[in-house]
Amino acid sequence: MSQAYRVAILGATGAVGSELLELLAARAFPLSELRLLASARSAGKTIDFQGESLKVEAVTPEAFKGIDLVLASAGGDTSTQWAPVAMEAGAVVVDNSSAFRMDPEVPLVVPEVNPDAASQHSGIIANPNCTTILMAVAIWPLHQVRRIRRIVAATYQSASGAGAQAMEEVKRQAQAILDGTTPETKCFPYPLAFNLFPHNTPLNEQGYCTEEMKMVNETRKIFGDADLRITATCVRVPVLRAHSEAINLEFEEYFPAAQARSVLSQAPGVKLVEDWQKNHFPMPIEASGQDDVLVGRIRQDISNPLGLELWLCGDQIRKGAALNAVQIAELLATRDLLRVPLATR
Ligand code: A2P
Repeated sequence: MSQAYRVAILGATGAVGSELLELLAARAFPLSELRLLASARSAGKTIDFQGESLKVEAVTPEAFKGIDLVLASAGGDTSTQWAPVAMEAGAVVVDNSSAFRMDPEVPLVVPEVNPDAASQHSGIIANPNCTTILMAVAIWPLHQVRRIRRIVAATYQSASGAGAQAMEEVKRQAQAILDGTTPETKCFPYPLAFNLFPHNTPLNEQGYCTEEMKMVNETRKIFGDADLRITATCVRVPVLRAHSEAINLEFEEYFPAAQARSVLSQAPGVKLVEDWQKNHFPMPIEASGQDDVLVGRIRQDISNPLGLELWLCGDQIRKGAALNAVQIAELLATRDLLRVPLATR
């Protein structure tokens, strides 16, 4: 990365936006300018970045003028409205929303899995769903050794997936319950503190929620394997910022647990956390603030000779969102792909 880039963060005041700022600084992304964009509600607020106080601007068409890269994390509607405007202005958009993920023209990228897909972009690269990213990082290395035929996942998802306000809501609910008062619900349909509930996204006619179908469809797209059989049950739990997942894998051939452990001990973006003596395995509290997806409890499925069980935890805001987006930006910068091909403008 020999040159520096003019970067805008769309959704700079949100949970993922704040993490993007931290990561750009910590990873020394080559910046010549940083513009912080959010809704009109936040215009004029200031945010510290590397000792400088930067003003948040309301997003407008002019805000993208001269920008090379937009890191967007302000929800699907905002991305649908502003990504074309940013592209028109010549910027490449790495979008954290679900707006473009399943568009066949838009690469859906996890750098540890399908970095080359990023080269096919026409101005937008989609950052996958958080739960999907964490699972993909952990199981792709195994899929390279022996093809996975079927995935059965159960997830335990933190409040952060619903944004900064949802994280605050859980804290307030916990305090209200401890104080013996009725917890208020705004972001979530039910109290999450001291509770859990199936993921609160719309249900399809088969009874699957949108989050579950994201895991199904996005994993197939990222892996380039449309025949992969996947089923999932997604659940919200009162954890602040790290998701957990129990994953059952069925392979085309027997996969010894010891070999899976050895493969994952060397896999990029994965940290093996397994102390069988102490019954110490990945926990959201230990995954929070970490780049790596923590994986453990790798064991043979006693109900299926072709099966393996594993357990993982990963920081939803970091690898589930902001880190993956910054890694995509680094990939684009390294490969000189931070230009919208003229034909698509
Ligand atoms: P704002 O703080 O001004 O509402 P989170 O996912 O943590 O809830 O954050 C969402 C981010 O998306 C925030 O930065 C929020 O800005 C921003 N955002 C929400 N709606 C819009 C909008 N219509 N236009 C621009 N930014 C938006």
